[in-house]
Amino acid sequence: MTLALEQTGCDMGSKDLHVPVMYAEVEQYLVLPVGGCLVDCTLGMGGHSQLLAKQLGKTGRIIGFDNDAEALKIAEQNLSGCVERCDLIHDNFRNIEKVLNNLGVKQVDGILVDLGISSFQLDDPQRGFSLKTDGPLDMRMNQEGPLSAYDLVNSLTEKEIVKILREYGEERFAGRIARRIVDRREESPIETTKELRKIVLSVLPSGYRRQKIHPATRTFQAFRIAVNRELDALEVVLTKGIDCLKPGGRMGVIAFHSLEDRIVKHKFRALAKEKKVELVFKKPLRPEEDEIRENPRARSARFRVVEKI
Ligand SMILES: C[S@@+](CC[C@H](N)C(=O)[O-])C[C@H]1O[C@@H](n2cnc3c(N)ncnc32)[C@H](O)[C@@H]1O
Repeated sequence: MTLALEQTGCDMGSKDLHVPVMYAEVEQYLVLPVGGCLVDCTLGMGGHSQLLAKQLGKTGRIIGFDNDAEALKIAEQNLSGCVERCDLIHDNFRNIEKVLNNLGVKQVDGILVDLGISSFQLDDPQRGFSLKTDGPLDMRMNQEGPLSAYDLVNSLTEKEIVKILREYGEERFAGRIARRIVDRREESPIETTKELRKIVLSVLPSGYRRQKIHPATRTFQAFRIAVNRELDALEVVLTKGIDCLKPGGRMGVIAFHSLEDRIVKHKFRALAKEKKVELVFKKPLRPEEDEIRENPRARSARFRVVEKI
């Protein structure tokens, strides 16, 4: 998908822009003042930041986090000239409060969290995120992270694997898959995405293999969440992020599966009960049919926004 350059205020080297998920809704509901400050917790290729830079104008500031150093390099190029100041932070967004303190920033006008991984991460077999290609069992968003999927798959106990598959993958056949992983790794370590996919397929009933999503999707999702401790970081950023917002400032979160969205829903509702925020809309927004047609990866997105009181 591409978007004409003239639609943004950025002066960039490339002729086309990556169009981020639910961009129209993000632009509409993450209202930012001219000269304001946005924290983009998940910079990725900088797609959302490029769009939101239009609202901030040339005098605005973007503080962008990504725990993937490669993403920051791409975002740096894409954001050049968009705003007066752009701080690129190679850190987990769970550290939002500490990072803003170090930058001397007390409160900001908007915060965006677009969860999951970037398409360039998914498309690179060497990163080990994709089911469709063969690559090492890595799945670390931060290439400097201490544990990869290889470590978890090859060293956790059967019980621990079952727990991960149930909690982070909501996988019905967690027991069977974990048993097979443990048996198989006695022969030799499980090293690649193809091997893991094969193991999962070998224990699932044939009916289960005919569902819409690939039968190993839940297993891959579960290990990715565990490797990157994703849900944990989400809980932290929701709490700390609100404290970093100015009154009237908005925080928007795009979630891609029910585990993430449940955390966002409960946290936002609790904050609304405490009269710290107002829900901008009650039910999450979903992408339009047109967007899903053009970008099937957007199909499971759910967008929630709160405004600080
Ligand atoms: C879906 S992509 C964001 C795409 C971006 N909004 C765009 O338009 O290009 C999510 C990005 O967030 C990063 N990420 C995910 N969880 C993170 C965390 N806890 N801390 C920092 N970065 C994270 C990933 O490395 C990935 O690059």
